[in-house]
Amino acid sequence: MSKGTFYITTPIYYPSDNLHIGHAYCSTAADSMARFKKLTGYDTYFLTGTDEHGQKIQRKAEAQGVTPQAYVDHIVDGIKSLWKLMDIDYDDFIRTTDERHVKGVQRIFEKLYNQGDIYKSEYEGWYCTPCESFWTELQLKDGKCPDCGRPVERTREESYFFRLSKYQDWLIQYIKEHPEFIQPTSRANEMMKNFLEPGLEDLCVSRTSIQWGIPVTFDPKHTVYVWLDALTNYINALGYGTDHDELYKKYWPANVHLVGKEIVRFHSIIWPIMLHALGEPLPKQVFGHGWLVIDGRKMGKSVGNVVDPVVLCNRYSSDAVRYFLMREMPFGSDGEFTLKSMLIRINADLANDLGNLVSRTVAMIEKYYGGAVPERGVVEDIDRTLWQLAEETPRRVEEQINAFQFSNGLAEIWKLIGECNKYIDVTQPWVLGRTEEGKPRLGTVLYTLAECVRRVAVMVGFVMPRTPERIFAQLGVTDDAMKTWDSVLAPFGVLPAGVQVKKGEALFPRLDVEKELARGEGAPADAKADKAEQKPQAERKPEKKQEMKGHEAPAYPEEIAIDDFFKVKLQVARVIACEKVEKSKKLLKLQVSLGPDGERQVVSGIAAYYTPEEMIGKQVVLAANLKPAKLAGIESQGMILCASTPDDSTVKLMSVEPGVPDGAIIG
Ligand code: MSP
Repeated sequence: MSKGTFYITTPIYYPSDNLHIGHAYCSTAADSMARFKKLTGYDTYFLTGTDEHGQKIQRKAEAQGVTPQAYVDHIVDGIKSLWKLMDIDYDDFIRTTDERHVKGVQRIFEKLYNQGDIYKSEYEGWYCTPCESFWTELQLKDGKCPDCGRPVERTREESYFFRLSKYQDWLIQYIKEHPEFIQPTSRANEMMKNFLEPGLEDLCVSRTSIQWGIPVTFDPKHTVYVWLDALTNYINALGYGTDHDELYKKYWPANVHLVGKEIVRFHSIIWPIMLHALGEPLPKQVFGHGWLVIDGRKMGKSVGNVVDPVVLCNRYSSDAVRYFLMREMPFGSDGEFTLKSMLIRINADLANDLGNLVSRTVAMIEKYYGGAVPERGVVEDIDRTLWQLAEETPRRVEEQINAFQFSNGLAEIWKLIGECNKYIDVTQPWVLGRTEEGKPRLGTVLYTLAECVRRVAVMVGFVMPRTPERIFAQLGVTDDAMKTWDSVLAPFGVLPAGVQVKKGEALFPRLDVEKELARGEGAPADAKADKAEQKPQAERKPEKKQEMKGHEAPAYPEEIAIDDFFKVKLQVARVIACEKVEKSKKLLKLQVSLGPDGERQVVSGIAAYYTPEEMIGKQVVLAANLKPAKLAGIESQGMILCASTPDDSTVKLMSVEPGVPDGAIIG
């Protein structure tokens, strides 16, 4: 049963050029919210589209020698394919050149004119073409546009005006009485202080000098001001004012208009006054999110610091890019975009935390139970604590996401993932699996992990829509009832024992951060990086056979100088990923983290003594400055130290006391 309706919109985008990752940020947030609401039981409607009129488009089309319509058609196709690539699953895409929109704007303009809220006068002022905004002399900053700092043009012409001033007191009162209307609250304060308290002037809502716009029906040499045109998309898309207004009746007022902070003023001043004048209810909320910035400056075409989302998605997957956008910065604030921070987050959260949890769980169920999820056996407090966290997490996620705190909501899910990984380290299923007495505990541990993984898969889907099915495939979950939000709200233990797991490929392969950075910020591979991957034969290091064998004690010199001892750089390293080397019984391939000194790959001959699952998360001692060598054709950058007897009947890792940071120097 539906919990009610939820109507969410993005701004409609200017089709002035290819969209960048800053635009994708806004759509990803709206899409994630729409998916979340759908998942949690709402009848959701998600609208996006394009804002295609205005002087800027007209000039660009002229420069290219095409009609404005041909110019925008081409760009809109590109925008739609970007949204497809990023799984932006809108219910409707409105273009301001759609007939339904054009007619809607004309009806609204007429109505406001007929009731006296729009009147004819003469306009004199300054116009910023890139922002499509009028400014008074007083509002200019050093003679330039106060929003973007670019030159403005003096304009004087006969125009229609909208009586904003008439509704000013009403709006001030409304905002005071509805603190939830403009969010975050700081933006409401900004609107009050910068626009409402100084007093609203009537707004010029038509132009005679711009042809590429919607003509005023009763005075066609005028075209409608682009913002008045654009804002009405939110109701025109629902059929407002037509004979087919079922969607309008069902979904209006919108639950939220999601907008970037620079356009909050249009949405929280002009738009509510228009709606009020039309006698229609106001949207419940206007949420102004922050910007993606690069070196502190808003990412944008005019600054030339844009990052192409297509390149990022094609290389790192749209789920990874979406996750990064929603996880990295608090939603209301600006956030610095760097490729490095994205790569680090993909490795840490997706490849390590989530990826390892899934692969370890599935691998152990395969190893100990032939792939069938076991029944729970003996239960201890540690299990109940994790079950409780798993049961509480969805509520906490709901609380955060409903407040647009995407980052905090995801952090709640990752808290559960982190606790699962710790649970593996503490319960040590590989030890339980060695003896018959361990079996009743092992069943509980592996069941608990499988059910937690299922819950995680359900919960991450609203941000990473492709990931749940990939996890369900490995976990053997086919029943749709086990993929619902209700199934994660239910008491722990929804997954039936006996479902057959199946190891698949790594969910998010680990990225070589340095190599990715060498390719350039979001840019296609450059020649330099490609060359590095294909060194000429002569430069390659010789492959040395170094598989560990039962060994004789090396002939140590009687004594060495302390300087010789200190030539070996011993460091504490944490194993962050580990797998068996194919066709070798002895070798494990490990990725280790040296904290601030980065990550590297090591191959170690300990496969007969340690499983990959038990290695992950362990701190080990690494001889870090050994010349890299190849073992079974795989490069090893260092050696993990073990203590062993000459016949190798005992081989144990050198352990590190708790509390030592990764990368710490030993000596
Ligand atoms: N056409 C108007 C909106 C009209 S809505 C009735 C417009 N279009 S836009 O293409 O310039 O911007 C669309 C959205 O993208 C805005 O919410 C804007 O804030 C957002 N972003 C553009 N650059 C951005 C960043 N660098 N970071 C985050 N969001 C950004 O405004």
